[in-house]
Amino acid sequence: MPSYHIITYGCQMNEHDSENIAGLLEAMGYEHTPDSSKADVVVMNTCSIRENADKRFFGSLGQFKKYKKTNKDFIMCVCGCMPQQPRIIEKIKESFSWVDILFGTQTIGEFPKLLSERIRTGRKQISIIDNSPDIPEVIESKRMFRHKALVNITYGCNNFCTYCIVPYTRGREKSRSLKDVVCEIRRLAEDGVKEVMLLGQNVNSFRDSEGNRFADLIKAVDEIEGIERIRFMTSHPKDISDELIDCYRTCSSLCNNIHLPVQAGSDSLLKRMNRHYTRAQYLEKVAKLREVSPDITISTDIIVGFPGETDEDFEDTLSLVKEVRYDSAFTFIYSPREGTPAAEFEDQIPERLQHERFDRLVDAINEISLEKNQAYVGREVEVLVEGISRNNDKALSGRTDDFKLVNFTSEAPLDEEMIGKAVKVRITDAKTFSLDGVITE
Ligand code: 5AD
Ligand code: SF4
Repeated sequence: MPSYHIITYGCQMNEHDSENIAGLLEAMGYEHTPDSSKADVVVMNTCSIRENADKRFFGSLGQFKKYKKTNKDFIMCVCGCMPQQPRIIEKIKESFSWVDILFGTQTIGEFPKLLSERIRTGRKQISIIDNSPDIPEVIESKRMFRHKALVNITYGCNNFCTYCIVPYTRGREKSRSLKDVVCEIRRLAEDGVKEVMLLGQNVNSFRDSEGNRFADLIKAVDEIEGIERIRFMTSHPKDISDELIDCYRTCSSLCNNIHLPVQAGSDSLLKRMNRHYTRAQYLEKVAKLREVSPDITISTDIIVGFPGETDEDFEDTLSLVKEVRYDSAFTFIYSPREGTPAAEFEDQIPERLQHERFDRLVDAINEISLEKNQAYVGREVEVLVEGISRNNDKALSGRTDDFKLVNFTSEAPLDEEMIGKAVKVRITDAKTFSLDGVITE
């Protein structure tokens, strides 16, 4: 049987796209191999957000050329956000002409056709479009986990934050219909899925042709039998409605956690980032969430060293972090993305200062994360088991409803059968990014 290997970079959208690509390849008779050097088809699903994304991408891509020598039928494919940029396509054609197939974020469904044609004709195949007007068909995906699933609800983004490349690589925002999403999740529930992650660049602006909003969707998914946990990602603070906040009170399956990217704590930076909210408005949303659900856990994304960031702006970000007291935060050093407005801003921040501020921010965040985790010690929590612990193969790991990562041991032998089940765990120790515990039930 021919085999495939997929390498995924970036966000959960990409992870889900890779699950879909895996589903398509398996339907064509391909079998997964964990070893890329043994694969007949390698797919690199790329991301353009991260720092040095281009350099790293071309570096990693270059390593696959040697497979062409050992396997004359080897087929190299590149997809995701990188090939959505014309200059990247140019460079691939120019310097990586041995790459066989290129497709974009909105043409995944065409991959089987491109692959068959490449095999039949030997010719290179490309399919990229900037901005598909259509919602892609649901693909029978190969899930990474049996008990949890990623589900797209919106595609693309219309927000044009001045630093961000996503609106250019993933096109205009489109919502699926509530009915289609519910139908897909019902099928997933029948297949044993207990937890769904609803995905979109800005899930809060979900609106289908019948006028259903995001809160309506959450309520509809909450009704689906078998779905015990609902999560979503990512929320834009400007679009969080009171109806959605109220779902934390009324929808029993909605997990007690929210990822609410703030990006910066100063009004002038927020304005220059084109975020459409002020610090006060953001804090007001957090206060409302905590009013409805006092122990909700909150995580965020923050960019440090955005063009024009003054000492004062940075202090505002630090003070916001201390005021909100996030459970965790993803921190990014600003990296100019060609074609975005902020890349043209004049007052770029020197790298040394960016790093200095970044380190101070990370220290402040980690201190708070650890304090927040310490409050769990001695408590009994319910954990949905996900697998063998990454740092101790004698332990299992899983997540609580409020998204804490828990590594735990039990006196009875650990049993793979437990994966996907809910167990009770007593927390014995707290770390910055995880909790340790022992199973009690
Ligand atoms: N530089 C640094 N961080 C960025 N992000 C998006 N674009 C950039 C950039 N050009 C971060 C934002 C976003 C997260 C997914 O990536 O914080 O929320
Ligand atoms: Fe990028 Fe802003 Fe859209 Fe998020 S909301 S994908 S940060 S443009």
